[in-house]
Amino acid sequence: MEAIIKVEQLTHTYSINTPFERKALDAVDFDIYPGELLGIIGQTGSGKSTLISHLNGLLKPTSGRILFEGQDIWSSPALTRSIRFQVGLVFQFPEYQLFEETVYKDIAFGPRNMRLSPEEVDRRVRRAIEFVGLSPSVLERSPFELSGGQKRRVAIAGVIAMEPKVLILDEPTAGLDPASVESILSNILDYHRANEATVIIVSHSMEEIARTADRLMVFSGGTIPLSGTPQEVFAHSQLLEDLGLGVPQMARVFSRMRAMGVEIEPSVYTIPQAKEAFLRAYRQRKGGQ
Ligand SMILES: Nc1ncnc2c1ncn2[C@@H]1O[C@H](COP(=O)(O)OP(=O)(O)OP(=O)(O)O)[C@@H](O)[C@H]1O
Ligand SMILES: [Mg+2]
Repeated sequence: MEAIIKVEQLTHTYSINTPFERKALDAVDFDIYPGELLGIIGQTGSGKSTLISHLNGLLKPTSGRILFEGQDIWSSPALTRSIRFQVGLVFQFPEYQLFEETVYKDIAFGPRNMRLSPEEVDRRVRRAIEFVGLSPSVLERSPFELSGGQKRRVAIAGVIAMEPKVLILDEPTAGLDPASVESILSNILDYHRANEATVIIVSHSMEEIARTADRLMVFSGGTIPLSGTPQEVFAHSQLLEDLGLGVPQMARVFSRMRAMGVEIEPSVYTIPQAKEAFLRAYRQRKGGQ
């Protein structure tokens, strides 16, 4: 399949030629495919936010290229501008960036910038508020009267309203209560399915990423030492621990059991998979007797 985004030898150095010079990305190479749900994990300071800020042209590579549908996003100012609409970026704690006097205006900000007709802006605002599970009655309220979880949803709706082909979210559930985490994740999955959109989620939570992503990329010190399906990645539990990352609880339990000599499959990382694996092992043992 043709990649929607190609990252070629991307290096980013902050504060170049100053005493604070810091290489945050070091010759990173990877592809993102249309319609996939990619999870990015890595310790604090590993370069995740630096990377995603390059994907919609907010940061410019120190060296290397970002191709969107085959074109270098920096090849012309018009293209760079259009990428900002096609690749939607929800920052970490985006609720701090709400600023309009009504929720409606906040969500409409992006689509208006795209110079869409007022009718189309209106359609998108209403669709977006529905996507994030808020009642349309919230639209006329001030964003500052809402709860933290509601503000987060409004901020996500503002990006969804641009109907980006690629939706990128930096720690979208950080700091929320478990019920809000579940509902925001399911809103994101709904957007992914309804629009066949490519979605990239940055997360610290292995459990969360294990359940949602099709493919994972692990960041460490501005490089990608490990990537693959969750199954492939979580099978490297020792490497993940060496990188200062946990593995999902179930992966830990299963790798401990294998270390104890229990013959059980290595690639389990969710509770339903664990249940299946136990039942299979149990049936085999019974069958073998
Ligand atoms: N504006 C900046 N100026 C200088 N250095 C920066 C800047 N932003 C980030 N860095 C440095 O670049 C490195 C990568 O930072 P980045 O924010 O991309 O990491 P991250 O993986 O997103 O971390 P976190 O999980 O804490 O959000 C870090 O060492 C950080 O200190
Ligand atoms: Mg970050």
